[in-house]
Amino acid sequence: MTNQIADIGLVGLAVMGQNLALNIADHGYTIAVFNRNPDKTREFIAQNEKNEPSKDRVLGYVDLGEFVRSIKRPRKIVLLVKAGEATDATINNLLPHLEAGDIIIDGGNAHWQDTTRREKRLSDLGFHFIGSGVSGGETGARFGPSLMPSGTFEAWQSLEPIWRDIAAKVDADTGKPLEGAEPGKPVKGGIPCTAYIGPNGAGHYVKMVHNGIEYIDMQLICEAYWLMKNLLGMNAGEIGKIFEEWNQGELSSFLIEITGDILQQKDPESDGYLVDKVLDAAGQKGTGLWTAANALTLAIPANAIAEAVYARALSALKEERVAASQLLEGPVIKLESDRATLIEAIRNALYCSKICAYAQGFQLMAEAQIEYNWQLDFGTIAQLWQGGCIIRAGFLRKITEAYNRDPGLQNLMLDPYFMNALHAGQAQWRQAVSLAVANGVSVPAFGSAVAYYDGYRSATLSANLLQAQRDFFGAHTYERTDHPRGKFFHLDWSSAERKQSEV
Ligand code: 2AM
Repeated sequence: MTNQIADIGLVGLAVMGQNLALNIADHGYTIAVFNRNPDKTREFIAQNEKNEPSKDRVLGYVDLGEFVRSIKRPRKIVLLVKAGEATDATINNLLPHLEAGDIIIDGGNAHWQDTTRREKRLSDLGFHFIGSGVSGGETGARFGPSLMPSGTFEAWQSLEPIWRDIAAKVDADTGKPLEGAEPGKPVKGGIPCTAYIGPNGAGHYVKMVHNGIEYIDMQLICEAYWLMKNLLGMNAGEIGKIFEEWNQGELSSFLIEITGDILQQKDPESDGYLVDKVLDAAGQKGTGLWTAANALTLAIPANAIAEAVYARALSALKEERVAASQLLEGPVIKLESDRATLIEAIRNALYCSKICAYAQGFQLMAEAQIEYNWQLDFGTIAQLWQGGCIIRAGFLRKITEAYNRDPGLQNLMLDPYFMNALHAGQAQWRQAVSLAVANGVSVPAFGSAVAYYDGYRSATLSANLLQAQRDFFGAHTYERTDHPRGKFFHLDWSSAERKQSEV
């Protein structure tokens, strides 16, 4: 009854599942596939008939038991079903067919707490559960995603060869993504963009932070574009050219590259540029929100990341904004700087803000590892984001180098490379933000990032007054600068004598 011919199985043949299955097959593995609706399995297998050399390596099953039995033990079964209830339903359907030691790998966009819960449940039943963040969209899935797996180390060791093979690769010397993979012809060599992240939900947590950073990366780019458009009156094509130039320097990244391309795209329906016709109301699927919410829960100031979520929310109030634009007045735009100076100021604002945003993401992960009992390797995390994923950038190599220099680095801004960059760029960063505020152009993420920088570098903040206020109305007590930390005082604000007591 056992045929055990497949190296791995995959459930869920939507776009991501199909592409990941083909990627796995391209690397010489035999993969069994299953989908709840069997027609999808049949269609996928039929489409794959002509795919050399993978066609014989992708085996379609419409019976779940047969599917499971076709996989070599310990079985590795990848789930790429809709995150949430579908994942639990699929796991429940698989359970009666599994044998001790089998491994389920959830490659969906699960919330990391769900992954922690599922990992506990499955390990209690004698199975393994790996939650693996998968980033890079359908192209990534097909030709090399960034993969962020977590679970038991034993289960990871079993999955590792396949995960390393199918992940994106970066050049060992330059850290640049190795591109050029084609169906049936994966790229050879390079460092794979995957590594063991830690136990239970750590992988999906890191994927969540990746997405939070992706939100702010995109928002910062949008604000740079917005300043060039509104302060300098440049058209989309001209701004696109600037992004092309920026992509040659320290900002070089996938998102800057596609922005240059997008901005220069002409509208297929009329004269002018496509971007000018795209409605300015952003959507979101929730992973940015998860990151910001977790930062609030852990009391970590990831304010720029949260700002990116709010910026989308504000954009979505399109009708309200249109109405308010007729009522609420702003300043008349008045500029004294020349174009080249201002473009360079905007570039510095983008770069410095980006450093702050990444500092926040890494600071959040540093707190999470304490709170959730993980040991994250930040240099490795930055390394596996260098290829395959949406935030891939030369910049991430600098982050890996920073953590290699000092694995205990408290904040990315304190690394000499990033500190120098902030020092070199801050005057122009401030110039760009000031001009934006003075001229009424909304740049919430730039402003939030500079506030983070100034707050973080302040030995004293206004929270002395805040603590006094809290003590006044709520007897919340305060510590004193002239006494050791941990000694708390209360002033009897309501009495005439206003006596202080130690509590
Ligand atoms: P379907 O093709 O049968 O709808 C993305 O939606 C993937 O998740 C699809 O493969 C889809 O299968 C699967 N999926 C969605 N809900 C599911 C559920 N409740 N149980 C199993 N698979 C599900």
